Amino acid sequence: MMHHILLLLLLAGSTYGWLPVEQWGSGNVTGTVGESGQCICKVYLPDTTFPADRVDIVQITSNKLSVDVEIHINKVVYIKAQLVILLSELTNLTSRLDILESGPDKYIKLEFDLLRVELREFESLVTHLKTSLNSSSPIFDSLYNEIRNMSLTVDLLESYDKSNLEVIRLEFIKLQKKLEKCRDEQDNFSNAAIGSCKHGGILRISKPVVSQLNADLSGSYLYGGWGKDSSPVPGYENMYWYSAFTNTLLSRIHVYADYYRLIMRQPMKTHELYTSRDWRGLGNNYIIHGNNLYYQFREPFSMGKYNMTSQTAEYRVVPSASNRFSYQYSDNQNLDFAADENGLWVTYATEKAKGKLVLGKIDEAAFALSEVWETGIFKQSVTNAFMICGVLYATRSIDAQKEEIFYTYNTHTRQENYVSIQFEKFQDFYVNLDYNPRDQKLYMFNNGYYVSYNVKFKGA
Ligand SMILES: *[C@@H]1O[C@H](CO)[C@@H](O)[C@H](O)[C@H]1NC(C)=O
Ligand SMILES: *[C@@H]1O[C@H](CO)[C@@H](O)[C@H](O)[C@H]1NC(C)=O
Ligand SMILES: *[C@@H]1O[C@H](CO)[C@@H](O)[C@H](O)[C@H]1NC(C)=O
Ligand SMILES: *[C@@H]1O[C@H](CO)[C@@H](O)[C@H](O)[C@H]1NC(C)=O
Ligand SMILES: *[C@@H]1O[C@H](CO)[C@@H](O)[C@H](O)[C@H]1NC(C)=O
Ligand SMILES: *[C@@H]1O[C@H](CO)[C@@H](O)[C@H](O)[C@H]1NC(C)=O
Repeated sequence: MMHHILLLLLLAGSTYGWLPVEQWGSGNVTGTVGESGQCICKVYLPDTTFPADRVDIVQITSNKLSVDVEIHINKVVYIKAQLVILLSELTNLTSRLDILESGPDKYIKLEFDLLRVELREFESLVTHLKTSLNSSSPIFDSLYNEIRNMSLTVDLLESYDKSNLEVIRLEFIKLQKKLEKCRDEQDNFSNAAIGSCKHGGILRISKPVVSQLNADLSGSYLYGGWGKDSSPVPGYENMYWYSAFTNTLLSRIHVYADYYRLIMRQPMKTHELYTSRDWRGLGNNYIIHGNNLYYQFREPFSMGKYNMTSQTAEYRVVPSASNRFSYQYSDNQNLDFAADENGLWVTYATEKAKGKLVLGKIDEAAFALSEVWETGIFKQSVTNAFMICGVLYATRSIDAQKEEIFYTYNTHTRQENYVSIQFEKFQDFYVNLDYNPRDQKLYMFNNGYYVSYNVKFKGA
C-alpha cells in the first residue's frame, strides 16, 4: 500500500513540482511563547505552489496581540481547552485517514464530507474565540481566513487524485504537532462563559494534565485531594489546597498562595484539625468553598465545615446518611462534597434507598440540607461523582487507563440518563474528582499525583 501511495505522490510531484514525501521534513515545527504570552507556532512547508500550504491554519506569528494582558491571561486557559479538543479531533481524523489509506477502494466522497465537517468545527471555534476574546486583533481574522482557505483547499483536493489525501494527512499530522506544542506552552486562557449554564452539559473531557507528585513527595500518599476554592474570598482567588495521607484519616490541610507555591511546595498555611481538640475527618471527597473546608467529619459521622478564616469547625449529622457505602476506589468515602455554578452539594447513600446514591443541596448559611434527590445508581458501583450546573455526573472504571462518566442525574428535571463520556486516567486509581466552576476544570487526585482536565460543553 505504501508503494502505491508513494508512486502516486511522485507522479503528482512531477506534475506540480513537489518534493517527494521523505523530503517534506515532517516535524519541522517550532513552538514558542511570544513576548505577550501568545503562542507562536511555525510550520515550514517546502513548497507554496500547491494549495495544501493553506492547510497551515494556526499561524499566530504576530506579536500585535496588544490587548489587555490581565484579561487575556485568563482567556488562554479557554483556548487551551479548545486546543485539547481540537487535538483529539485531529487524532481521530488522522486515524480515519490511516484506515482509508489501507484500502484505496474505500476512498470515497464521504471522507471529504467528513473533512468539511471538521473544518466547520474549526471555523466556528475561531469565530467563538474572536467573540470571546473581544479582540480586534488581525490575528483572528487571518486565522479565520486560513480556515476558509483550507475549506477551499479541500474542495480543490477533491477534484485531484487520491494521492492528495496523503498530502492532507501529512498536513494534519503537522498541524497536530503544532497544536500539541501550543498546548504544552499555553496554560493561560479562561472560558468566556465561566458561571454560565447555557450549555447542554459535558461533551468531552480533555486529556489529563499531570502537574506533579503531591507536595509531600510521597508515592504512598494515595488518599487526599487537591484543587482550588470554588468560591474564593477576595484576595484568595489564586489559592490552591492540598492534603493527603497514607490512609483515609484527614488531619490537616495545606493552602498555597498560588500555583507556583503549590508546585514549589511552599504552603502559606497548614490548618491542623487535630490539636487540643479533634476535628479530624475521614475519606477523600472534601472541597474548599468560600474559605471553608467541607469534609466528612469523623466523630460523630456527619458533614463537617472547618472555617479557615475563623479556624473553627462545626458539624451537622446528615439525616439517614449511611457510612456503610463507599465509592469503589477507597474506603470511608461516605460523604462526597461538590460545588458547582448553583452552589454546594453533598452525595451519600442511605439504608432506606438500599445503598443508592442520594444527592443533597446544602444551604450554606444554615449549613443544612435544603433539598434531597434519590438517584437510581448504587453508590458502590460508582468511582466518584461531581456536579455541574445542577447535574450530577457519576464515573466508573473501564480499565487501568480509562474512566467513564456513565450516569447523569439532572436535579432540575429529576431525569437520569445513562451516558458514555470516556476519559483517560494518568494512573489507574484515584480518590478525589471534583469540578471547579471558577475555571471549569476537573481536579483529580490520581495515585498521589495532581491531575486536572478541561471540560468541553455541548453547544458552548
Ligand atoms: C526547517 O525549515 C527551515 C525554514 O525553511 C529550514 O531552514 C530548516 O533547515 C528546516 N529544518 C529541518 C530539520 O528540516
Ligand atoms: C472518530 O470520531 C467518530 C465520531 O466522533 C467516531 O465514531 C469514530 O469511531 C472515531 N474514529 C477513530 C478512529 O477514533
Ligand atoms: C469589547 O471591546 C470594546 C472596544 O474595544 C468595548 O467597548 C466593549 O466593552 C468590550 N466588550 C466586552 C464584553 O468586553
Ligand atoms: C486565502 O486565499 C486567498 C486567495 O487565494 C489569499 O489571497 C489569502 O492570502 C489567503 N489567506 C490566508 C490567510 O492564507
Ligand atoms: C500565565 O501567564 C502569566 C503571565 O504571562 C505567566 O506569568 C505565567 O507563568 C503563565 N502560567 C503558566 C502556567 O504558563
Ligand atoms: C467563617 O468565619 C468568618 C470569620 O469569623 C466569618 O465572617 C464567616 O462568615 C465564616 N464563614 C462561614 C461560612 O461560616
